[in-house]
Amino acid sequence: MSPERVPTGIPEFDAVLRGGLIKSRIHLLEGRPGTGKTTIGMRFLISETDQDLVRLYISLSESAEELHATAASHGWSLDGVLLFNPELFSPQEYGEQTIMLPSDAELSRLIGTIAGEVERTGAKLVVIDSMAEIRLLAHNSSHYRRQVISLRERLTRAGATVLLLDDLTSVEHEFELQSAVHGAITLEQRERSYGSVRRVMKVVKLRGADYQSGWHDFAIQRSEILVFPSLIAEEHHRDYERSTLDSGVEGLDQMMGGGLLSGTSTMIIGTSGAGKTTLALQYALAAVRAGGKAAYFVLDEAEITLKSRMIERFGVGEGEGEGEGEGEGGAQPQDLLISRINPSRISAGAFIWQVRRRVEDDNVRVVVIDSINSYLDLIKEERTLLLQMNELFSYLANMGVIAVVVGAHSHTLDTSREPDALSIITDNVISLSSDVAHGRIRKNICVLKKRHSAHSHDVREFILTEDGFTVGDTVTDA
Ligand SMILES: Nc1ncnc2c1ncn2[C@@H]1O[C@H](COP(=O)(O)OP(=O)(O)O)[C@@H](O)[C@H]1O
Ligand SMILES: [Mg+2]
Repeated sequence: MSPERVPTGIPEFDAVLRGGLIKSRIHLLEGRPGTGKTTIGMRFLISETDQDLVRLYISLSESAEELHATAASHGWSLDGVLLFNPELFSPQEYGEQTIMLPSDAELSRLIGTIAGEVERTGAKLVVIDSMAEIRLLAHNSSHYRRQVISLRERLTRAGATVLLLDDLTSVEHEFELQSAVHGAITLEQRERSYGSVRRVMKVVKLRGADYQSGWHDFAIQRSEILVFPSLIAEEHHRDYERSTLDSGVEGLDQMMGGGLLSGTSTMIIGTSGAGKTTLALQYALAAVRAGGKAAYFVLDEAEITLKSRMIERFGVGEGEGEGEGEGEGGAQPQDLLISRINPSRISAGAFIWQVRRRVEDDNVRVVVIDSINSYLDLIKEERTLLLQMNELFSYLANMGVIAVVVGAHSHTLDTSREPDALSIITDNVISLSSDVAHGRIRKNICVLKKRHSAHSHDVREFILTEDGFTVGDTVTDA
C-alpha cells in the first residue's frame, strides 16, 4: 500500500512528489542559503488543506518578527501557525561554565526542547529552520547523528509531518543528514552568464514511495512558488485523428506536397528578416481559420509587434463582423493564443510547462516557437537544454500537435551548428533565403525536407505583403 501523503501547498511540487510529503515522516529540504528553503517551509505550513491541523514553525535563527515580515513580503499571513524560538544555549549553564563551548548536554537539551514543543502542542505539520544551528552544538558527528535520530524517532512517534531545513554550509561532510531521514529534497541555484538565476530542485529520496526523478525548474515569485515538473514525453500520449493543415498559400502547399500532418514538426530557417515569422503565422492563422486554436510563442524581442497588421486584418476579414466570441465555428482571432517569453528570465522548464498548458488546457492544434535561437544560445551553456527541447518535440508529436519552429541562421545551412543541428530532428525543413537578381533583392523559398510525402525541389520566389505570403515563379539561373 502506498503511504498517505500531505500536500506541500505547491500543486506542481506535489505532482513531482506524486501526492505530497509522506504523512508522519521526516523530510530534509536542503540547499545553500537563498535557495528557497524558508519560503517553501512557510508555504507548507500555510497551505489551505485541513486547517484543523496544528502547525508549528521552529526557527533557530529568525525571530517571530522576522518571520512575519518574510511572510508579509509574499502577502502571506502566519496567523494560525505557532512560532517557536528555542534558546540555543541555556543561560543558567553559562553562569557555571568559564569556557564558552557548548557541551554535549547542550545539544541533547535543545533536541529535547524541540521534540517536547511538538509533543506539547500536538503539531502535525512542522518546519525546523534550520539544522545548521543545531549542528553547531555538536562536538562530533557521531553525537550529532545520535541526536538527529532521536529527534526523528520522537517526531515520528508524535505523528508529525516534518520539513527539516538544512543549509549545506558545514565544510566537512562528516555525516549525511540524508541518510537519517525518510525523504530528502535538494534545492540548487545555478548562475547563468546572463539573465536571472535558474532555480532547480530534485527529490533525492522518498522512502517506500514513488516520485518523479530528475531536476525540475522552479521559481519563487511574490505570493507563490512555481514548480515545473520536467517533461517526460513518453508519459504523454493522445489518440488523435491524423489530418493535414494547408497553409492556404497556393504555391507553398504545392511545394510541400500537401499540408502539415498532425504530430509532425516543421523548422523554418532563414536569415534575419527573411520572412520566417510571416510564414509561421500563415500556418497558425490557417489552423484558426479551420476552426482550431494555435499557440504562438514569441521569444524574440525584435518580434515584439508580431505582424500585428496581419493579425488585425485577419480578425476583420474573417470574423464576419461578429462580436468577439460569436460566430459559429468561424475563425476567431482570439483563438490565436500569443504568449511572449523572455528566455533570459524564464527557464526552459517553465517555458515547456507553458507549452503544455496550451496543449493540454487549450487543446491547440498548432504550436509555433519563434524563435528557438534564444534557447539555443543557452544550450551552449547547458547541454541538458537540448535534451529538454528534444523531449518537447517528442511530446508534441505524441499529442498530435503540429509544431512549427523558427530558427534564424547564418547564410549557409550547416548541420554541425545550431539551430541547423536541431533541424535534423524536425520532420520538415523550409528554408528562406535571398539573393540579388536583376538589380533587386529576390526572396527565395525551398523545401529542404518533408518526411511524410514527396515535395518539390524547386527554389521559388516569394513576396511578403501586409496580408502575408505569396509564392511566385520558380527561380531560374538566368
Ligand atoms: N517576496 C518575495 N518575492 C520574490 N522572491 C522572493 C521573495 N522573498 C524571497 N524571495 C526569493 O527567495 C530567496 C530566498 O529564499 P529563502 O527561502 O529565504 O532561502 P533559504 O531559506 O534557502 O535561505 C531569495 O533569493 C529571493 O530571491
Ligand atoms: Mg532560510
